[in-house]
Amino acid sequence: MYTTEFLDIPHLASAGGSVQLPGSKSISNRVLLLAALSQGTTTVHDLLDSDDTRVMLDALHALGCGVEPRQVVPGAPLRITGLGGKLPAGAAATLFLGNAGTAMRPLTAALAVLGGDFEMTGIARMYERPIGDLVDALRQLGCRIDYLGSTGYPPLKIAPPDFSNFPDVPIQVRGDVSSQFLTSLLMALPLLAQERAITIEVVGELISKPYIHITLELLARFGIRVVNHDWQRFVIPAGSRYQSPGEIHVEADASSASYFIALGAIAAGADGQKGIRIEGVGLDSIQGDIRFVDAARAMGADISGGPNWLQVQRGSWPLKAIDLDCNHIPDAAMTLAVMALYADGTTTLRNIASWRVKETDRIAAMAAEARKLGAQVEEGADFIRITPPADASAWRAASIHTYDDHRIAMCFSLAAFNPAWLPVRIQDPKCVGKTFPDYFETLFTLVQPSAAAPVICIDGPTASGKGTVATLVAQRLGFALLDSGALYRITGLAASRAGIPLEEAQAERIAALIGTLDIVFTPDQRVLLGGEDISLAIRTEEAGMNASRVSAFPAVRQALLQLQRDFRRLPGLVADGRDMGTTIFPDAPLKVFLSASVECRAQRRFKQLIDKGLSANMHDLLADLQARDARDTQRSASPLQPAEDALHWDNSAERTVEQAVQQVLAWWQQRQPFASA
Ligand code: DC
Repeated sequence: MYTTEFLDIPHLASAGGSVQLPGSKSISNRVLLLAALSQGTTTVHDLLDSDDTRVMLDALHALGCGVEPRQVVPGAPLRITGLGGKLPAGAAATLFLGNAGTAMRPLTAALAVLGGDFEMTGIARMYERPIGDLVDALRQLGCRIDYLGSTGYPPLKIAPPDFSNFPDVPIQVRGDVSSQFLTSLLMALPLLAQERAITIEVVGELISKPYIHITLELLARFGIRVVNHDWQRFVIPAGSRYQSPGEIHVEADASSASYFIALGAIAAGADGQKGIRIEGVGLDSIQGDIRFVDAARAMGADISGGPNWLQVQRGSWPLKAIDLDCNHIPDAAMTLAVMALYADGTTTLRNIASWRVKETDRIAAMAAEARKLGAQVEEGADFIRITPPADASAWRAASIHTYDDHRIAMCFSLAAFNPAWLPVRIQDPKCVGKTFPDYFETLFTLVQPSAAAPVICIDGPTASGKGTVATLVAQRLGFALLDSGALYRITGLAASRAGIPLEEAQAERIAALIGTLDIVFTPDQRVLLGGEDISLAIRTEEAGMNASRVSAFPAVRQALLQLQRDFRRLPGLVADGRDMGTTIFPDAPLKVFLSASVECRAQRRFKQLIDKGLSANMHDLLADLQARDARDTQRSASPLQPAEDALHWDNSAERTVEQAVQQVLAWWQQRQPFASA
């Protein structure tokens, strides 16, 4: 997951390949609660690992459910041991539910029915998301729920219920604000239906029926067969009792699939690949958002599919504008709004009032951000109308505000296929963590930029601080990092271990050795050679000296050339070394040359070595550095020298690392088409 302040997506040209999608959020959190209410242990496969499922798991654990393991482990099932329909006497807890509506609403209903003293809390936005209609419905039964903040909104206080006046008329709930209220009742009330049937009656039009469909399908898997009378009355039969199905598989999220369906529809196919294949969800999905397929087809997407897969490629291009009632696909319809930017006319999405009470006011947010890109947008209480930028020159490079809303972030990444060759900046990219933490990483495995991914070169002499600065710049931008010095250090180490003298006459042998090395740079900045951790072994002064020796051999430099260029990837690369700007990435859009006096660098290196627990001596260090400077600058192959177009920064001791990082980031920002972030 990118945890940077923003993520710049370079202009994208094409896409192709296969993607396995994460589990559905709606199904994951329903399954977790149903398993928690059941008797016995449920083994859950393919559960989504996200902010919303994490708060749910934490809450269930706090309530005394077995949760094993405590967190989602990719590829491994999770076992929930349920409460068997009751809580221990005197149960009490404060539950923090973040911004997860799929946890707040159903848990409130279940706990208000089960009995106990609870406080239901979350982040500030959660306190703006309505829950009053659910509370009103539960109060009809004798549940005791109080508002701790504003009336009608969390945080809530729940006390043990008093069912002495349990009504024998249907329980009424409004259906036109959030279908989660009905879902919550449908999941909580079977707990009270041992002896009597319970009828729930929907007041007003029921929105988001597809989510109710998911609820009913999953209830059936847990032994509760609700009778659906035309989406107006739901009867939970007497004798209902939650029973674990033993094992259950979570379908991939059909709403998440919408971004990749749109990707296939928007992007030209990559070389030799026929569009995008999506695994984990197919045309027979129980999720309503699968109907997004029909809407995307109407816009021109060419889609085929089977039980657990979809295949999408460009059909009509430009896409066809549509006028569509989106009540049946509220979440996925946001993706249509971005597809509309590539359509041949004005697209209207109707009946989407629920957008206004989601993670943010999504109608206002989609309108504001699409306008930044150059689209004309009209919005109403329950519709949005989008006219794409008139031509390529009307598109703008936008820094997209994401409102802590995963879907806004994912949607607008698709604006990177604009005809104006502009990059797109996504602010706060980590908001995708709500449903799809690796969304951008997944996207980047499928797409190709129209120009090579951007590179920032940070060159300079040894101990000039370039490694530290490069690492921090890469972290702030979410870019990959190439520590080219490490490659020379690895080469020196591997050659010495193989008993090859580090002499010019052996250069071809050393170069040949490079092709056989199994080198891995781990995300936590360790270096593995053939599986062995050599992070420390390559940092000694001797290893530095050996690196300097082998780096003078043209055959070695040639052997490392492609290896270094292969580090270039989306969204970008920070490359640190001696010849990044001159030889390896001469086309890099930003080249920085760091310098510092030899004394200052010797001191820096001294500190580095001591910090790593290695021995060091100032006098020897100075002499070593001078010797290496001389060799690195005087060798004939790629001598250490700044690229002609490099920007210089004196990184001497009186300047902090942060100053250097800020300077590089400022230079980078100047090269971007976005207004200052
Ligand atoms: O940056 P460093 O100290 O880890 O580099 C070790 C040696 O590798 C250095 O003395 C010169 C050589 N090197 C090089 O020639 N070209 C590079 N791009 C990086 C390092």
